[in-house]
Amino acid sequence: MPAMSRIALTLGLALGASAAKNSIVAPTGAEKLTVGLLGDYGWTGWQPLPLDFCNNALPKLQADGVTIPRDLQNDCDPGDRAAISNATIEETRTANYIEKVCLQKNCSAFVSVGDNFYDSGVDFTSEGIQRFYEGWANMYVGKAFDGKPWYQALGNHDIVAGKAGVDFQTRIAPLMEDRWYFGNDNLPYYTYDLKGSNWTATFAVVDSDCFINKYQQSTSVYNTDYVIECHQTTQTQVEFLRKAFAESTATWKILQIHHGFISSSTNYTELAPLMDIVRENNAVVINGHDHCMAHYQFNGTNFVLTGGAGYAEAGDCNYGVPLGPFTKWLGADAQQAANGFVTLDISYNALHFEYYARDMQLKGADYYPVANEMKPSYSFDVTQHATKA
Ligand SMILES: *[C@@H]1O[C@H](CO)[C@@H](O)[C@H](O)[C@H]1NC(C)=O
Ligand SMILES: *[C@@H]1O[C@H](CO)[C@@H](O)[C@H](O)[C@H]1NC(C)=O
Ligand SMILES: *[C@@H]1O[C@H](CO)[C@@H](O)[C@H](O)[C@H]1NC(C)=O
Ligand SMILES: *[C@@H]1O[C@H](CO)[C@@H](O)[C@H](O)[C@H]1NC(C)=O
Ligand SMILES: *[C@@H]1O[C@H](CO)[C@@H](O)[C@H](O)[C@H]1NC(C)=O
Repeated sequence: MPAMSRIALTLGLALGASAAKNSIVAPTGAEKLTVGLLGDYGWTGWQPLPLDFCNNALPKLQADGVTIPRDLQNDCDPGDRAAISNATIEETRTANYIEKVCLQKNCSAFVSVGDNFYDSGVDFTSEGIQRFYEGWANMYVGKAFDGKPWYQALGNHDIVAGKAGVDFQTRIAPLMEDRWYFGNDNLPYYTYDLKGSNWTATFAVVDSDCFINKYQQSTSVYNTDYVIECHQTTQTQVEFLRKAFAESTATWKILQIHHGFISSSTNYTELAPLMDIVRENNAVVINGHDHCMAHYQFNGTNFVLTGGAGYAEAGDCNYGVPLGPFTKWLGADAQQAANGFVTLDISYNALHFEYYARDMQLKGADYYPVANEMKPSYSFDVTQHATKA
């Protein structure tokens, strides 16, 4: 246990009003606080199922009427099977890259937009615990990461294990590792404030998985007990967001979710009720799901896509070609999307976003050349404070 955590445990709730049981929180009082934003990362340790099982046994079992658990079905995914070798290398190299940039920038916390564990999430089993250490706890270590809280969110890969997987990430994981933060209430949605010298930023985390219509189809691997149930109560999360933002007088308001309302590959228009609240509060959206980094501005709202911390996919950023004037920047070219993450410097005067793209060298080739990867490839500022709806 790092020294910082021991202090946090001893002080208990004294470190921050919103500290969860064992979780540590970001320091307060800074004139400028830097946080790392990242998503779509947790590949390491995933083992696809044997081809013989997927190609030969599975169809026979299905033909015989055997119910195939969603995670087994998903662990046969041919696309993810093809990706795993590069994805594992890329997650590790990107973790090292984030460490270098965060040492330079003094990141105080990390904000995740989900897909914490491919391919099918993790739950409270031996394999789940192994994956938790391999893909996250032992992956993000070193001076830049030690003692820094991770404000987590769920993505579609995290919910394949159903309620057991959600329970692991929201209730078990915060007790296993004090950097893992998931609010106080063991719920997949929560709110937290980061507080500076003369500013506050209210973050609201919502599980966008519950809103996605196609996950309700019985053929979807995401159609688990959890997603069937939470789809019935999306209004609860909409009202939660409304209340969290309405009760906040913060300088800045940020919605932290997995799926993109506006995107270069799929627009999840089901998220519109959340976006109305975002617009009413002049808030900013941070999301992932698409495996690349981008900045979109749509209908008056800024969207920060930060999905490049694992397996980067150029198609998710339309091979670097803007689909419309809503696209301000795409971290991709015709062949490759950049691995990387976004830093957010929060102060009274601005939310300053910097997009860090990694110079990706693999097997002797430089397949996403970046002249100086220690400098941001793109940046922008939000200077208009949040409003109170
Ligand atoms: C890093 O940021 C924290 C939080 O604002 C601050 O307390 C600390 O002094 C900073 N460290 C350096 C080296 O700037
Ligand atoms: C807050 O602090 C910043 C310096 O970080 C300063 O520029 C700004 O004027 C201050 N604003 C208020 C309202 O105190
Ligand atoms: C998303 O919506 C925008 C604005 O309507 C549109 O220009 C864009 O093509 C859409 N993206 C996709 C992938 O359909
Ligand atoms: C754009 O914002 C207006 C309110 O300003 C809202 O009525 C409209 O539905 C929004 N359009 C989209 C496509 O989100
Ligand atoms: C893995 O990376 C190499 C670059 O060295 C690339 O040629 C290959 O297409 C990648 N494979 C996948 C499945 O992305």
